[in-house]
Amino acid sequence: MIKKCLFPAAGYGTRFLPATKAMPKEMLPVVNKPLIQYGVEEALDAGLTEISIVTGRGKRALEDHFDISYELENQIKGTDKEKYLVGIRKLLDECSFSYTRQTEMKGLGHAILTGRPLIGDEPFAVVLADDLCVNLEGDGVLTQMVKLYKQYRCTIVAIQEVDPQETHKYGVIAGDLIGDDLYRVRNMVEKPKPEDAPSNLAIIGRYILTPDIFKLIEETEPGKGGEIQITDALMKQAQDGCVIAYKFKGTRFDCGGAEGYIEATNFCFEHFYKTGKAY
Ligand code: G1P
Repeated sequence: MIKKCLFPAAGYGTRFLPATKAMPKEMLPVVNKPLIQYGVEEALDAGLTEISIVTGRGKRALEDHFDISYELENQIKGTDKEKYLVGIRKLLDECSFSYTRQTEMKGLGHAILTGRPLIGDEPFAVVLADDLCVNLEGDGVLTQMVKLYKQYRCTIVAIQEVDPQETHKYGVIAGDLIGDDLYRVRNMVEKPKPEDAPSNLAIIGRYILTPDIFKLIEETEPGKGGEIQITDALMKQAQDGCVIAYKFKGTRFDCGGAEGYIEATNFCFEHFYKTGKAY
């Protein structure tokens, strides 16, 4: 079954400058936890224990975060502050972490292809950590998607309905309804203008990909913004085989920008921090 989860984390985080000038955007805290930790927790909840992270220059804090800090551990040993590290210790105990570097920023498709040596020839999940996803009612988004993968055995992308004026921020799909909240993808366009969008069903940062995607990415020409787009490779996969789009249960916050980040912060403060579930 699926064990691996890839986190493309080499991006510059320009929407959050100057905060992200010397700090990875994935390390921005939402209340008391960095964004990427929420993503890794969601992966572990879904049974994905082999965490692969595509990093880049200036991203070493990510590796330090998913490691022991002996000095700090020693300092707080036996005090009530130890509780703050319970969550991260669980991740270190139950997951493995591997890293590779993307030396040039050539788009999300290229970032995923850079992760190939860490993934090999098996299906895997992809999490874009700045999309923070929560579901207070039940399974996390990746858990929902892993369950679907077991049933359909093909690539699955998470989607949500967005304001038709916002399609230029997303990969947008069109498809045939094949079940509750499930579409078989017919068309996919990266960041279309509203007038060119095939629908208002937008891809968010959760994917389960079958490994044939790597070859398709290799064959993909630069697209929107001159970058190698995962959306274009997925479109080929949808034409040749099957790609399913899943309208997930839960809420997604776009933490790549100030508005979504503040909403996520308020939400996590209310539902996790104040209720003692934040560690
Ligand atoms: C990327 C993808 C886009 C997807 C989005 C989800 O865009 O290229 O298809 O809809 O993530 O967050 P980015 O936000 O990195 O520009």
